[in-house]
Amino acid sequence: MTIIVTGGAGFIGSNFVFHYLKAHPKDRVICLDKLTYAGNLSTLAPVMEDPNFRFVKLDICDREGVYALFEEEHPDVVVNFAAESHVDRSIENPAIFLETNIIGTSVLMDACRKYGIQRYHQVSTDEVYGDLPLDRPDLFFTESTPIHTSSPYSSSKAGADLLVLAYHRTFGLPVTISRCSNNYGPYHFPEKLIPLMIINALHDKPLPVYGEGVNVRDWLYVEDHCRAIDLIIHKGTVGEVYNVGGHNEMKNIDIVKLICKELGKPESLITHVTDRKGHDMRYAIDPTKIHNELGWLPETKFADGIKKTIRWYLDNEAWWAPIISGEYQNYYAQMYGNR
Ligand code: NAD
Ligand code: TYD
Repeated sequence: MTIIVTGGAGFIGSNFVFHYLKAHPKDRVICLDKLTYAGNLSTLAPVMEDPNFRFVKLDICDREGVYALFEEEHPDVVVNFAAESHVDRSIENPAIFLETNIIGTSVLMDACRKYGIQRYHQVSTDEVYGDLPLDRPDLFFTESTPIHTSSPYSSSKAGADLLVLAYHRTFGLPVTISRCSNNYGPYHFPEKLIPLMIINALHDKPLPVYGEGVNVRDWLYVEDHCRAIDLIIHKGTVGEVYNVGGHNEMKNIDIVKLICKELGKPESLITHVTDRKGHDMRYAIDPTKIHNELGWLPETKFADGIKKTIRWYLDNEAWWAPIISGEYQNYYAQMYGNR
């Protein structure tokens, strides 16, 4: 089988490439990635020489390029991770989010229609459900929770999800969608909460917590997400949406305090800064469907996963040091300079 993984030079996509090549040694994996600021070819160095792996630098919005690749490779499965993924950037500049996340998704699905496909899988997010109130811990997102987005990022992901379901209903495209909670683990780009706090703490720099830090996210170790997607593409039902999450809700402030503790850094580094506009309060996934139908359960407990993740950042400065020394400096100054 040949599988195209888009966005495979990013955080979750690269972890998925590693997982997939190991779990399915007879399959070919083609990674298609534009290499935006969030994509790193160095991440894929361990598999570059693997005869079952091919990297192609390509924009998912480039219709001609995408069609040419399909014509050449005849993929059986496409898993679409490629996206603009950072909420704060979507607040600064929504347009590129609509371009990549919605138009790019439609180009990929048009290619699937034109050349034929066994499965198109859309990697979506729990953020399409909006947020839950902090005072209702009994509420969780299920697959039938209404779409109700807050940020340009989540709106673009929701737009893509609706398009995916429309291509299924209108054209009979064999699609599945997964909506996962916040991931953490190796190769997480340091604009996101956990790697940003680890790297700042290592440099004894302020740890910028938005608002009071009481917002809740439901954290899942990235490898557990990769296993869920693998299960869905092989055993999931066409046309279905699967929520993915491990019931691991934590307040941002508690995560940052935990990182300080693990690194032996003082909590006095924590700085409360101006809150994010439209900041979602709480995300919480009900994963009953994927558990009952596909037998998926998370394997990594947060207490272990966060230790493994911190250890990975300590051991892999060679991966993140070049990232934070480049364009990232301008990003950081713009986002946090006057906050
Ligand atoms: P990321 O930002 O780390 O990586 C995105 C990758 O996509 C990069 O390699 C980038 O170069 C590539 N890309 C961007 N635009 C492209 C384009 N036009 N054409 C081709 N490639 C392009 O993102 P991530 O955190 O790995 O997220 C991957 C997917 O998972 C996204 O669709 C995101 O919405 C979804 N998701 C993420 C999380 C999370 O916690 N990070 C949770 C649930 C769902
Ligand atoms: P993030 O990692 O950007 O993921 P998302 O917004 O998609 O959930 O942020 C996680 C939480 O951490 C979110 O509530 C915003 C908060 N946050 C901070 O408090 N400070 C920061 O510097 C960042 C990047 C995020």
